[in-house]
Amino acid sequence: MPYTSTQNEFSHRPVLLEECLTALKLQPGATVVDGTVGGGGHAAAILEGTAPDGHLIGLDLDGEAIRESQRRLEKFGERVTLVQESFRNLDAVLAHLEVPEVDAVLLDLGVSSHQLDSPQRGFRFATETSEETPLDMRMDQESGTTAADLLRRADPEQLQKWFSKYADLPGSRKLARVIVEARQRAPLRTAADLRAVIAEARIGRGRRHDPSTLVFQALRMAVNDEANALTEGLEAAIESLRVGGRLVVLAYHSGEDRIVKNQLRGAARGCSCPPRTPVCICGEKVRLRVITRKPISASDDELRENPRARSARLRIAERVAEAS
Ligand SMILES: C[S@@+](CC[C@H](N)C(=O)[O-])C[C@H]1O[C@@H](n2cnc3c(N)ncnc32)[C@H](O)[C@@H]1O
Repeated sequence: MPYTSTQNEFSHRPVLLEECLTALKLQPGATVVDGTVGGGGHAAAILEGTAPDGHLIGLDLDGEAIRESQRRLEKFGERVTLVQESFRNLDAVLAHLEVPEVDAVLLDLGVSSHQLDSPQRGFRFATETSEETPLDMRMDQESGTTAADLLRRADPEQLQKWFSKYADLPGSRKLARVIVEARQRAPLRTAADLRAVIAEARIGRGRRHDPSTLVFQALRMAVNDEANALTEGLEAAIESLRVGGRLVVLAYHSGEDRIVKNQLRGAARGCSCPPRTPVCICGEKVRLRVITRKPISASDDELRENPRARSARLRIAERVAEAS
């Protein structure tokens, strides 16, 4: 294997940790869901904040993350339940565990440092490893379709839609066309193959950021169906909260943050029928109070310690009694 073991160690530093802990309003004995338990950094702090008898239900799609958090959270014994499952299925997980409602839910979206730093997972296109980095990008390595499969099968319209919808990529149509031409010559298997095609398409010239960042982000979102999972996961989280319970979400790019913002606002607004509709036909109720009008970002001190917190956006909402 071309990768050293240190690259595979879990070293995820919990982002905006203090802010998240305050936002969750932790109390001794609380039942808290960490829908993206990752390396267990936020989870360990939540368990300390709910001692002596709080319960943490941790979910992650990634089997490696579940195994790592099992190891890290072992000392909390029966106070921890870990499940390898998507947060989009939180309602089913809670029903299975016979937990009717919870006090708080945390979603720390995106990929962990461990996933990013493991070249074989294919989440990053670092030039020094890109020849050996397969186009995988699955959060759950045991199921689903890899990025290489999507690039082999998707039609140009679908590719273009992913690039523009998930990453606002300028030149989406051109890149989709060049990918289809390139794959007729040879399949795209590695990050280096994809980077060569992006260079061939000559998109994003004169821009500050490497367009590969956006292309990789869009593909990752497509591979893991992240936008739909987030929409469903937020709905399941809102429904799982007791009145007064907190929903705390960390997003890392504008597309993700937009979904969170709109869905929290929608649940705080209730009825969305056009004005002057005599009787509500949408049936939507007020279920949340949004605490953060603007998202919270990392402080300069945190950024100095952890540059990966740079794009983090934290939003907080509180469950309220349903009203029209
Ligand atoms: C930013 S990391 C979380 C890090 C964690 N808060 C910590 O302190 O170590 C995001 C995690 O969410 C997981 N993930 C992404 N989408 C998911 C989903 N739909 N359901 C469950 N886990 C998901 C990823 O596998 C990754 O481990």
